[in-house]
Amino acid sequence: MGLKLNDDFLWGGAIAAHQAEGAWNVGGKGVSIADILTAGAHEKPREITDGVIEGLNYPNHHGIYFYDTYKADLALMAEMGFKAFRTSIAWTRIFPNGDDAAPNEEGLQFYDDMFDEMNRLGIEPVITLNHFEMPYHLVTEYGGWSDRRLIDFFVKYAETVFTRYKDKVKYWMTHNEISNQANLTDETMGEFMIWTNSGLKFPEGTPAEEKLAAMVQAGHYELVASAKAVQIGHAINPDFVIGGMLNVAPLYPASSKPADMLAVQKARQARDWFSDVHVRGEYPAEFEAFAKRTGMRPDITEEDREALRAGTVDYLAISYYNSFVIKATSDDDAEFDNLHGYEIVPNPEVQVSDWGWAIDPQGLRYTLNELNDLYPGLPIMIVENGFGAYDEVVDGKVHDQYRIDYLKAHVAEVEKAVVMDGIPVIGYLSWGPIDIVSAGTGEMSKRYGYIYVDLDDMGEGSGERLRKDSFDWYKQVIASHGVDL
Ligand code: BG6
Repeated sequence: MGLKLNDDFLWGGAIAAHQAEGAWNVGGKGVSIADILTAGAHEKPREITDGVIEGLNYPNHHGIYFYDTYKADLALMAEMGFKAFRTSIAWTRIFPNGDDAAPNEEGLQFYDDMFDEMNRLGIEPVITLNHFEMPYHLVTEYGGWSDRRLIDFFVKYAETVFTRYKDKVKYWMTHNEISNQANLTDETMGEFMIWTNSGLKFPEGTPAEEKLAAMVQAGHYELVASAKAVQIGHAINPDFVIGGMLNVAPLYPASSKPADMLAVQKARQARDWFSDVHVRGEYPAEFEAFAKRTGMRPDITEEDREALRAGTVDYLAISYYNSFVIKATSDDDAEFDNLHGYEIVPNPEVQVSDWGWAIDPQGLRYTLNELNDLYPGLPIMIVENGFGAYDEVVDGKVHDQYRIDYLKAHVAEVEKAVVMDGIPVIGYLSWGPIDIVSAGTGEMSKRYGYIYVDLDDMGEGSGERLRKDSFDWYKQVIASHGVDL
């Protein structure tokens, strides 16, 4: 039995435009940075190609055809009792190149229709402005977020959609998982992370310090853009609730050695400056010391600092999947630069998914408490959590007890955090309520859904939707306000 949550708790699910919509070149849409990512696999990174190359497999070009099927798919979400549904606006449907003088009416109309449909079904739209899908033209023409002009392009885009949907959407967030890029030296995923966050791609052999410097400056522009968007959004509709979005994961020390504990703290600080700026409007002291010491983030103006202070977020949107163990690589070298001093090591205490992601429900309660310690009283919405797994269809059924087990354990921890710890969590939107293309690997076979989609990694299949066992499970959880787990 779970603990009952309030009636206004936002139960639901979340996807992103580029992983679901397909229709990558339909309705005036421009090419996004997701449209040039090939299919990869576990430990086989997706390739970032120079433009779209004929003959290669680009899974985001078709997604799950949500562009055409969203009405039927949303009806299934409504059947589960969803109170809220998160998706993103594909920036390239609105401004195909990013620097266009005027928005694309067909793209605007598409989301008008989608948000109308959600509202008709009684499902609250929760909308991400920038979910790994900025216009590719902004990369080829401006060098992605390394260019200050991106701030204005983003703000114009935000203002356009805030104005258009001001009576249809209340909950927003700016950049998806903005701090992922802090892990830019990760061997398999680093290149993907800095690409999807900032549209930066480095020539082979670029020194790590150079990459870090580029990331830090780009991250600053993204934060300023976010803060300016928050201010404009509130001016357009004071009832807007606009968040910053981060992936969060507990970091555990590999041992009780003091150096391991310090390494954990430094590894955390290497990412937390993003949330600190979002929430407090100021860079934390250790980041300022780092910037001074290294000369990184040279372009910051007084006007930027004012914008950051004036554009703090209304809530934190978080994704939670796993936890990590940090080990100091020497006793005195735990520096704050994300490049030296520590490494990630396996955790013998937890199981992992088929993609090697640690399964750690208790870590979610820990994280929610930790966030509330850092930012007391700030509402938190869990906008991603879920279990990517292989599913098998047998006689038209998918018995995904493993997914139910994962979700049940995580929801139980959320409930404890809310009821027993008093953490202001306002919603739980599980990731990929309908199977979609994996962001990290481009696979369809890494499935998160309550709803099975008959498409394989090559995009072959009927596209038919099937209710998995987890569909009924989640329906009962929502109907009982979290009691019937
Ligand atoms: C988050 C992203 O990083 O994790 C999503 O915001 C992504 O876009 C999700 O899909 C799960 O990752 P993956 O690689 O399993 O799709």
